[in-house]
Amino acid sequence: MTLPCDMLVFGGTGDLALHKLLPALYHLHRDGRLPADMRILALARTPLQRAAYQALAERHCRAHIPRATFDNEAWQGFAARLDYLAMDASQSADYGRLARYLEQGACRRGRIYYMATAPDLFQDIAASLATARLTGEHTRIVLEKPIGRSLASAQAINAGIGQAFDEPQIFRIDHYLGKETVQNLMALRFANALFEPVWRSGHIDHVQISVCETLGVENRGAYYDNAGAMRDMLQNHLLQLLCLVAMEAPVRFDADSVRSEKVKVLEALKPITGLDVQDKTVRGQYVAGRIGGHDVPAYYFEKNVDNDSDTETFVAVQAEIDNWRWAGVPFYLRTGKRMARKTSEIVIQFKPVPHRLFNGSEANRLIIRLQPEERISLQLMAKQPGKGMSLEPVELDLNLADAFRQRRRWDAYERLLLDVIEGDSTLFMRRDEVEAAWRWIDPILQGWQEYYQRPKPYPAGSNGPEQAASLLENSERRWHE
Ligand code: BG6
Repeated sequence: MTLPCDMLVFGGTGDLALHKLLPALYHLHRDGRLPADMRILALARTPLQRAAYQALAERHCRAHIPRATFDNEAWQGFAARLDYLAMDASQSADYGRLARYLEQGACRRGRIYYMATAPDLFQDIAASLATARLTGEHTRIVLEKPIGRSLASAQAINAGIGQAFDEPQIFRIDHYLGKETVQNLMALRFANALFEPVWRSGHIDHVQISVCETLGVENRGAYYDNAGAMRDMLQNHLLQLLCLVAMEAPVRFDADSVRSEKVKVLEALKPITGLDVQDKTVRGQYVAGRIGGHDVPAYYFEKNVDNDSDTETFVAVQAEIDNWRWAGVPFYLRTGKRMARKTSEIVIQFKPVPHRLFNGSEANRLIIRLQPEERISLQLMAKQPGKGMSLEPVELDLNLADAFRQRRRWDAYERLLLDVIEGDSTLFMRRDEVEAAWRWIDPILQGWQEYYQRPKPYPAGSNGPEQAASLLENSERRWHE
């Protein structure tokens, strides 16, 4: 249900708000998709007047919105929606001022609270909103990942938020679920009969899910050094991708049916405990190197990062799903910062034909690329022209941007913010889903502490530590580069 509503962004001067949320809201405004009189109120500690915030927002949005879609007139209309209130979200006294602000103008309308802050503030903010009587039937709250640092802290956050908001009002965002290609994965699997019969252990040798970035930690060193690649990426984005690859077809495409199927996958993940943690996971940290012809310093020289930091900037894990469809099929997950190339892709490696008739025959491979371009390609074997039967792999290649050239590609946040406004939580994580993911991650984190080893170094601009290659080579497999 779409409410006439306002959106309040806690952390309104932070990177997430300025680089992601405002550009997404601007595009929705420009395309006439925001409720007509929706106000956007940014909240942060910095004392700023409304005009100064509008100028700050414009500066950042101009830098982050493609020129072709930045339209001055549309911007003026969007800026008129923007307001700013300086407040300290950790001080309950400040919520009285917020309540008075909200009483001006239209009352009795919906409110969306977006938590673009550190997760340790989520509970306090929710409690203060409830105490100031700013919660109720027509309010929703959006939480950014990671929710907590462990199962216990995630449960505490979820319980705290649950005291102020009912589960259907809580939108736990994972922006990977807003990416077009990620949703296309569901279309590929559940709207085409072709793949279903072979989408299982009898036909699939293994699955790789890689999210490699060339970026480092930018100015998020303080947050990142406390989180690391496991909590920042694998616990959420990569596990969500794994769920979409592995889940059964939901009965309906609605929030509970889809999320219940994902929870089943998370619950079927085989625990990695004890010494297995050493065999099935690899932690890495980048040292100095070169990317795109530029020298890049080591992680421990990044701003706000401890000089002796042992936070992982790379992680690879060999996961297994103990269920009928997937028993015995390894899912190799890896993610890292400052790698050679920015690519996010899922590789479904099929098994070879049972009996080889021809030389050079290789097994089929389906590659679903999310970034930098959105493509789905299927590697097939074809005969080389001329005499004989020498084979070569060729690709059936679908570029989704070309296929829908006339339509603008939406940013993940656009889709997800619109879903929040419309109250559709299909692409958001349910409480049990977040907790099931932590339940699987926790023993790995504990194993890393118990059998402590410093993260393996890898040069910036490489494909990660060599131990990540061994994870596959031990079973005569290779990462798809
Ligand atoms: C965020 C992480 O969730 O995802 C960042 O906190 C990471 O560290 C980012 O850089 C990657 O997102 P994308 O959409 O660029 O792949």
